[in-house]
Amino acid sequence: MENQRNVDSQYLARLGAVLENVKRTTYQRMRVMEGSRVLDVGCGPGTDTIPLAKLVGSWGRVAGIDQDAAMIEQANSRAIQNGVAGWTEHRVAESDALPFDDASFDAVRAERLFQHLQNPAPTLREMIRVTRAGGYVCVLDTDYASASIAIDEHELERRFTRVVLEHSVKNGYAAREMPLLFQQHKLDAIDLEIVPVVYADYALARELGRWNDIERIALELNLLNEQELQHLRASCERADEQGGFVLHVNMVMVVGRKE
Ligand SMILES: C[S@@+](CC[C@H](N)C(=O)[O-])C[C@H]1O[C@@H](n2cnc3c(N)ncnc32)[C@H](O)[C@@H]1O
Repeated sequence: MENQRNVDSQYLARLGAVLENVKRTTYQRMRVMEGSRVLDVGCGPGTDTIPLAKLVGSWGRVAGIDQDAAMIEQANSRAIQNGVAGWTEHRVAESDALPFDDASFDAVRAERLFQHLQNPAPTLREMIRVTRAGGYVCVLDTDYASASIAIDEHELERRFTRVVLEHSVKNGYAAREMPLLFQQHKLDAIDLEIVPVVYADYALARELGRWNDIERIALELNLLNEQELQHLRASCERADEQGGFVLHVNMVMVVGRKE
């Protein structure tokens, strides 16, 4: 639940810590090893490029691109602080026009990027173009259609999760469409994994789910009124007090090999 407005690097770092295991799984699925050349598309403040750079070592090469210059500046500072700048570069670029030659990388990934793309195909095409034959492409994204909050206000909960799905990001359905898109782009040995993310703490779910933003969007678009939001909050608080608050949402991880 991360609409692009107000998403800053601190927020991405907090969420990155929650997602550490699934991030590491993407590196394994892409067969990243010492000496690999890896690209992270929509790299943010280097949440993944820094651990990847440590993994590939100075024999390898890591690149990250992001359209946000402030993110790239932070990613480059973090590469220097972490002693990996010699083989790690971050550049400002658009995901559908990657500034790299064909077949320059062994592995190319994009995490929580496609939810921001109205039209995902040009970016996937670019990711495949810069991957070498036999290399791996990986997309990890949130399937917002799977978001579920265990509270007793069922009708309000469905309307609220629909605001998240259809109005808080540009393309909340992108994640579940990725396996088909991988097939249509002739990726081979496609591996699909669904990874649940569970928040059993209401305060953390509010923070990392950016609920203040979702509530504002719901009000602005007249999808829920203040009274309904109050009911929803009260229901979440009740569940939380009884130790029964749970929000879960699936992440879709797709990996494919370039032929
Ligand atoms: C939700 S953040 C995820 C950042 C990072 N992948 C991570 O896991 O922490 C999405 C990032 O994609 C970038 N982004 C969105 N649309 C983009 C585009 N068309 N081209 C390049 N970067 C883009 C945003 O600037 C933002 O840094």
